[in-house]
Amino acid sequence: MPPTSTTHLITDAAEVRATVIEAQRAGETIGLVPTMGALHAGHLSLVDASLAECDRTIVSIFVNPTQFGPQEDLQNYPTSPEQDFAMLKQRGCWLVFSPSREEVYRANHETFIDVGSVARLWEGKSRPDHFRGVATVVLKLLQMVPADRAYFGQKDYQQTLVVRQMMADLNVPTEIRVCPIVREPDGLAMSSRNAYLSSAQRRQATGLWKSLQLAANLHADGETDANKIRQAMKTLIDDQGGIELEYIAFLAQNTVCEVDRMEGPTVVAIAARVGKTRLIDNCLLG
Ligand code: PAJ
Repeated sequence: MPPTSTTHLITDAAEVRATVIEAQRAGETIGLVPTMGALHAGHLSLVDASLAECDRTIVSIFVNPTQFGPQEDLQNYPTSPEQDFAMLKQRGCWLVFSPSREEVYRANHETFIDVGSVARLWEGKSRPDHFRGVATVVLKLLQMVPADRAYFGQKDYQQTLVVRQMMADLNVPTEIRVCPIVREPDGLAMSSRNAYLSSAQRRQATGLWKSLQLAANLHADGETDANKIRQAMKTLIDDQGGIELEYIAFLAQNTVCEVDRMEGPTVVAIAARVGKTRLIDNCLLG
């Protein structure tokens, strides 16, 4: 289907739901790309995947307060609503759904989704209520926008597992699609939070990608011992300087289970701070 000539902005949950259901009754498939705005090429790759597969594409923009910890950057989280809208319009997006906080969370909101073990380790350890907030808002967004498909990025590997678990456990009929990580020319994974980095930190941050590449090279050369690869990655990161490592995890693909020896496809996930900015990245080996 050719790009829609106009892109509409909707802020009302009942209106977006009625609009989606009407289009579906007319036989159209709807793709939803949930985002928190400050859009970059990573987000747009999800939009492009939806545009290619679905008749109509909706992007939601909502900075979800329940997924931020008390010490996190909710107040400073970057926003660029006009620029986001212009980019989505140019792309041929059908609707931009940008609800207010009050529209999403009533004053007496009390229900949250606890997705269980997949949410407890790694990111869940560093950010205790994060995935509870993510699972809750994704389910709520899919109630408001009952899309046929929803698009997520491999960049947030554990988030994709949490969303899959929630959707399977709660019988959400939307299909989930996971799209590859989009990187800057020097390899840094695109992220709205990269905007926090000074130019010196920005250079240091490439150490994350360099260490993942090192892991990929060692693995391609036949190394399967996760600890040996982890050690080599740590040395590279220490030598680079400016990166405070939180974890390097070797996880059996599509799980949060750590492996010591890489016998099948393995995701190497890394989390670190550069200055005050927390960055995550990952790469699939094998
Ligand atoms: P946000 O960080 O805005 O990301 C929205 C989507 O874009 C997520 O699925 C994320 O994985 C994907 N994405 C971000 N950077 C990417 C990159 N460099 N390459 C490919 N995809 C990338 O993730 C969230 O928002 C929120 O948790 C949300 C799911 C919207 C729930 O509030």
